[in-house]
Amino acid sequence: MSDLDQLVASAEADFAAAAEPAKLEDAKARYLGKDGSLTALLKGLGKLPVEERKSAGAAINQAKVSIESALTARREALKTAQLEAQLATEALDVTLPGRGLPRGSLHPVTISLDRIEQLFRSIGFDVADGPEIETDWHNFTALNTPENHPARSMHDTFYLLGSDGKLQEEVLLRTHTSPVQIRAMLAHTDRHRDAATMPELRIICPGRVYRVDSDATHSPMFHQVEGLWVGEKVSFADLKGVVADFLRRFFESDDLKVRFRPSFFPFTEPSAEIDVAFMSGALEGRWLEIAGCGMVHPNVLRFGGFDPEKYTGFAFGMGPDRLTMLRYGINDLRLFFEGDLRFLSQFR
Ligand code: FA5
Ligand code: MG
Repeated sequence: MSDLDQLVASAEADFAAAAEPAKLEDAKARYLGKDGSLTALLKGLGKLPVEERKSAGAAINQAKVSIESALTARREALKTAQLEAQLATEALDVTLPGRGLPRGSLHPVTISLDRIEQLFRSIGFDVADGPEIETDWHNFTALNTPENHPARSMHDTFYLLGSDGKLQEEVLLRTHTSPVQIRAMLAHTDRHRDAATMPELRIICPGRVYRVDSDATHSPMFHQVEGLWVGEKVSFADLKGVVADFLRRFFESDDLKVRFRPSFFPFTEPSAEIDVAFMSGALEGRWLEIAGCGMVHPNVLRFGGFDPEKYTGFAFGMGPDRLTMLRYGINDLRLFFEGDLRFLSQFR
């Protein structure tokens, strides 16, 4: 074998041994680079006698063509191998079983709110709505709680800052759903100006309320469901009947006691707290407060456009978060607001 043939064979062997593109380029430099062996031969041509130069040049060029084509072939081979390896790792096995889409579920408090709406609709209540950012007038004043009334301090209120950074004394996050009583009464008496044909007003209002308060049974945002029934002969007996019947249906149990404990709210007179106790189960015999209630105060009826000489009404404001805790045996209110899937997925 001539020296040139040997050089070509050695280049081919080196290219074949290069397992990756960078190694191949190193090998190429050893032959075709500036200091490569083939380049050295080409440079040496000038020193040969004239008569040998032509044939030697042709032979070297021939060798160069061989080495270059070996290089190109190896480059292609490496590229193909790399592509195949990539395809192999990215391969999809379409016969594998699917992972399944995780199924979402309603939040337990949402489940309760839906239930509460359904139960009250079934006895003729409409569902009303009101803003969470409320005026001081609707939240307090029209509910018979004028400025400087000591009952205002029963609620630790979140006030809002205006765009000038100053406290907006007239605007707040509603501390209860009771302002919706005022909005609903005003809308009702405005729509039915003729007292002779005015229908009864019967609404509930579920929604979020806010107070500066936080522990296992109090959270700064919680839910209430307001209830209001105004008519010509609405009595405390109606209130007791509606609430006790609702609670038995909500808990699907006749095995519970309902107690109306005297209390105070500026917007009702008389006022009471509603407590329930279960006659069996983990909470057996313990009284738990679930709502405030009472007969709508004449001043509040008047603020709502009703003549208190002619109309009476009852109202209640209950805590659906607490009702949900009781229904499912949950001991910490904060679980409702943490978004932990281990907790939430139990209500699927
Ligand atoms: C009121 O908010 C009155 N507006 C209720 C009312 C309406 C009385 C209509 C008369 C007529 P109170 O602050 O007690 O009352 O709240 C009512 C219910 O909301 C409580 O019984 C309780 O179930 C729930 N609740 C109160 N504070 C919290 C809280 N921080 N976290 C969760 N639930 C709460
Ligand atoms: Mg209370």
